[in-house]
Amino acid sequence: MITDTAFDIQKTSQSRLDQVDFDNLGFGNVFSDHMLEVEYTGGEWKQPTIKPYGNIEVPPALHVFHYGQSVFEGAKAYHVDNETVNLFRIEKNYERMARSCERICMPFVDRDVFMEGIKTLINVDSGWVPRKEGNVLYIRPFLSAFDTVIAANPSETYRFYVITSPVGAYYSKSVKLTTAEKYIRAAKGGVGAAKFAGNYAGSFLPARKAQEQGFDQVLWLDAFEHQYVEEVGTMNIFFVIDGVLVTPKLQGTILPGVTRDSVIQLAKKWDMPVEERRINIEEVIEAGQAGVLEEAFGAGTAAVISPIREIHHDGSSVTPQETERGEVGQKLYDTITGIQRSAIEDPFDWVHPI
Ligand code: COI
Repeated sequence: MITDTAFDIQKTSQSRLDQVDFDNLGFGNVFSDHMLEVEYTGGEWKQPTIKPYGNIEVPPALHVFHYGQSVFEGAKAYHVDNETVNLFRIEKNYERMARSCERICMPFVDRDVFMEGIKTLINVDSGWVPRKEGNVLYIRPFLSAFDTVIAANPSETYRFYVITSPVGAYYSKSVKLTTAEKYIRAAKGGVGAAKFAGNYAGSFLPARKAQEQGFDQVLWLDAFEHQYVEEVGTMNIFFVIDGVLVTPKLQGTILPGVTRDSVIQLAKKWDMPVEERRINIEEVIEAGQAGVLEEAFGAGTAAVISPIREIHHDGSSVTPQETERGEVGQKLYDTITGIQRSAIEDPFDWVHPI
């Protein structure tokens, strides 16, 4: 049991829980009754508050509107039984958010405020954690610049929020990817490894163009040679080529995903050959054409393990042998979701009950 003493808890008198159709959840369009808010002013973080989820009134000069100084995270809470809700590797989210803040030149809350804040918020809104398998409570921490002055300098005022949302699957079917001919997501020395809001905004136009051509998402290639596979933007990417699990190496341009790391650790534990390395897109196309591209899937908190059914690059399209989750993808999905719900053993100490 955690102590609530450090948090000012203001509960709503009007829960919206009975308005939610838990049998038909979308993704990120319904929000739980409460949110965590912590203000940073005068060089220090103030007392964390848990208050009713609702609008925040802000002036048009708000720093984040103009300069985009904002980072976020994605995590999930899992229903186990009527007494237990699990968090999965939440310390990895804290560590990544701390690194994102450093890169975008923002202060960050103490580990305790992040950890206990999320736990307290979920305790307060425990009724919002979906029971049905496959559905979870998505946790969205974010930190944004709150100065009200037109000046392209780091803000001196910030707010850290955590909001939560009961969700279903992010991708309901396997996805079709295309590389982007003239766009890039991130370059070395840039902000690609940070969960920085601008990385997502920058992907919207290329993604829209890809969707207009019948694809679901862009498969990003490196900025320099435009040859090496990076990530999908909403998830990291894995291929099973001739029995080997292959994924792009982290070199500062790819988001270091928590699910990505979990996939690699599990595959190694199962003695499956794993290669984190540069992957030329031509190698993927050739593997597909030679029939040895056994599986391709994305891995991410929102996406979990999402199968890829087509990859298009420079006039060629390949289809993995498995267009839905294959043997490897399914085993990873079952193991990760099983550990998250404490349905199977957790040899890595990844889950922590609230
Ligand atoms: C997540 O996987 O949690 C993300 O933040 C990705 C986002 C596109 C939903």
